[in-house]
Amino acid sequence: MTRLNNEVAIITGGAGDIGTAHVESFFKEGANVIIADINEEKGKLISKNYPNNTSENKVIFVHHNSTDEKSWKRLSSKVIDEFGKVSILVNCYGTNFRERYINQNLENWNTILNVNLTSVFIGIKELIPFFKLSGKGSIINLGSLASLRGSEYSPAYTASKTGLIGLTKSTAIAFAKDKIRCNLICPGHVDTNFIRNNSQYSPNDWTTSINNPENYNERLNQIPLGRLQTPQDIANLSVFLASKDSEMITGSIITVDGGITI
Ligand SMILES: NC(=O)c1ccc[n+]([C@@H]2O[C@H](COP(=O)([O-])OP(=O)(O)OC[C@H]3O[C@@H](n4cnc5c(N)ncnc54)[C@H](O)[C@@H]3O)[C@@H](O)[C@H]2O)c1
Repeated sequence: MTRLNNEVAIITGGAGDIGTAHVESFFKEGANVIIADINEEKGKLISKNYPNNTSENKVIFVHHNSTDEKSWKRLSSKVIDEFGKVSILVNCYGTNFRERYINQNLENWNTILNVNLTSVFIGIKELIPFFKLSGKGSIINLGSLASLRGSEYSPAYTASKTGLIGLTKSTAIAFAKDKIRCNLICPGHVDTNFIRNNSQYSPNDWTTSINNPENYNERLNQIPLGRLQTPQDIANLSVFLASKDSEMITGSIITVDGGITI
């Protein structure tokens, strides 16, 4: 028995490292999966790893910019055309500029709030009517250590990720009567592109990247369970939160951080 048989799951940021682990896990559990990401090249490449025959569940890629309301509308139309329904949304996109509080300008503040928080609100509003038609829904947002504690760096990242606590709880209470659940996963330090490499939406240099052994060890030494998290650690919890096994769990803030916030 697979836990997500016949389900349809949108993984936004699905071409990212945490997103890719979700795509694989959700597919293995029997779901039809939509990779929705701004990175077309990578998204298409990942979707090609999956079989494309009609008798099994499949994985498709849809180009998507989470900050754009029209892009969410195109995404939902495409998903309904292709699969006829949808009831799972995992939001795995995000952006951060790791600069000191005093150096963060309004442009970067707005970008971070827009991508990490406002986009999630737009997406949820777009998909709720389709979840209602399905008679159920599971929305999984990705917070961070920054959802739970302050930092002298990037106040916008902290504000956006703490904002997701409020948005997750509001979504959970507003739509509980429709059997639509919403939970927030707060990962710790996950070894991904986001904190290792330099990208447009998550710039890193030697002072911030975990390619720098000093930075890697500083993070590692804070983790009681003794290792950084993997994308799979996060996907494992998401599969549970998307499945019937968690049908009484909503509005919850759940850490996957090796004990760092104890
Ligand atoms: N890696 C970590 O240590 C860590 C820790 C806590 C939380 N998180 C959160 O996990 C999420 C995913 O991070 P990751 O580590 O997989 O990073 P990643 O860089 O591997 O993936 C991020 C993905 O988001 C996509 N994306 C960026 N902006 C987008 C937009 N506007 N519209 C659509 N897609 C967009 C990128 O193309 C990329 O595929 C983020 O929300 C991040 O804040 C990561």
